[in-house]
Amino acid sequence: MTYEGFLSRAASHMQESGIRKISAVGQKIPDLVPLAAGFPSPDTFAWDEFRAIANDLLSGKDASALQYGPTRGYAPLISALIEVMAGRGVKAQESELLVTTGSQQGLDLVARVLLDPGDVALVELPSYAGAISAFRNTGAAIVGVRQDADGVDLDDLARVTREQRAAGHRVRFLYVVPNFQNPTGLLIGLDKRRRLLEWATREDVLIVEDDPYGALFFTDVAQESDTRPIKADDPEGRVIYLSSFSKTLAPGFRVAWMVAPAPLTSHFEVAKQAIDISAGVLDQRVVFRAYEQGLLMSRLPMLRAHYQAKRAAMEQSLRAELGDTLSWVQPRGGFFIWARFPEGIDTDALIMRAVQRGVAYVTGSAFYVDEGASRRWARLSFSFPPIDRMREGVKRLAVAVREELAETSVPSASFPAAR
Ligand SMILES: Cc1ncc(COP(=O)(O)O)c(C=O)c1O
Repeated sequence: MTYEGFLSRAASHMQESGIRKISAVGQKIPDLVPLAAGFPSPDTFAWDEFRAIANDLLSGKDASALQYGPTRGYAPLISALIEVMAGRGVKAQESELLVTTGSQQGLDLVARVLLDPGDVALVELPSYAGAISAFRNTGAAIVGVRQDADGVDLDDLARVTREQRAAGHRVRFLYVVPNFQNPTGLLIGLDKRRRLLEWATREDVLIVEDDPYGALFFTDVAQESDTRPIKADDPEGRVIYLSSFSKTLAPGFRVAWMVAPAPLTSHFEVAKQAIDISAGVLDQRVVFRAYEQGLLMSRLPMLRAHYQAKRAAMEQSLRAELGDTLSWVQPRGGFFIWARFPEGIDTDALIMRAVQRGVAYVTGSAFYVDEGASRRWARLSFSFPPIDRMREGVKRLAVAVREELAETSVPSASFPAAR
């Protein structure tokens, strides 16, 4: 039996995530070094504390720990999130908060509530692949805006908006990841954040600000004030802000949140009711207890130091193994290095050889929305593997690049010898 004829129009347009596809291939290769998945390091998980909290919650003293819960989220967690947001400079009201099942669900809710088929969602180019998929599933057109050294290029933003409007399309929002973007690692400067908000007001569009990495800045090159959310300076209510505990506590809890103007939050809540009723009730309680015990805040310095050391190790390995050929901008936080490969390398073609050599990355094209994707880029995640494995992965990548260049016979005089 074939099922094509049964599929909805939306389902037939859905695309499998390129990142998940690469991860699936990788799982079949023993000893593969995963520089692809943007997973947090399991070494950073607070196993002992989580075990104690879960034990207590599952003692049976309070049956609500395993009961259905409100769609908005566990009330004490919502109060905690108001405090978290205040720490980030955002005065959030209870009526503006919704706990989501990962920020990925927040993006899906944004898409369901704000996009009709044919509408336009603007995204940075390149942009987080999961957001592109969520927006695309609605039948909306996803249109890219170029980035410069500190994110969204304002001239290109003005041009794209003008062109889309002239073509009769409704531009609904701009999606941005201002802090250590996935995949480029870029940090949008404070002045540009202000100008983005001015643009949104002028053009009467919304901004969807996705901020899973802001707390993970590297103290050698950034500070907390660099990561001030656009939402912090948004008296008018133009910004829908999303954040998550995935990178700071653990992604397995799937606990995240969004802050949006109250009337929009009500719509997100109604949409969420039909999807999962609420985020995991037990998970929300574990996360709340962790917050209550001060675990989140007390562990941030350790997390920053952990990922900063890994970034340093990856940069050092890349310089040693591929220094003459690869270029990248040093990320000031987050999980990723966005690397530009030498002429003659197509990262979509290189990936199979790289996987055979025992290393995976995400091809740059996975983060683009059109055919014009540059095939010379790849996202290398330094967050997940231990440092010695990461170094091994970079060595293997260098072997794959050398082989590929030799086959495509581009002169490689400046390429370092095998070691
Ligand atoms: C920019 C961005 N937004 C959202 C997500 C999804 O996070 P969550 O685990 O909260 O669903 C990720 C995960 O990697 C991400 O990089």
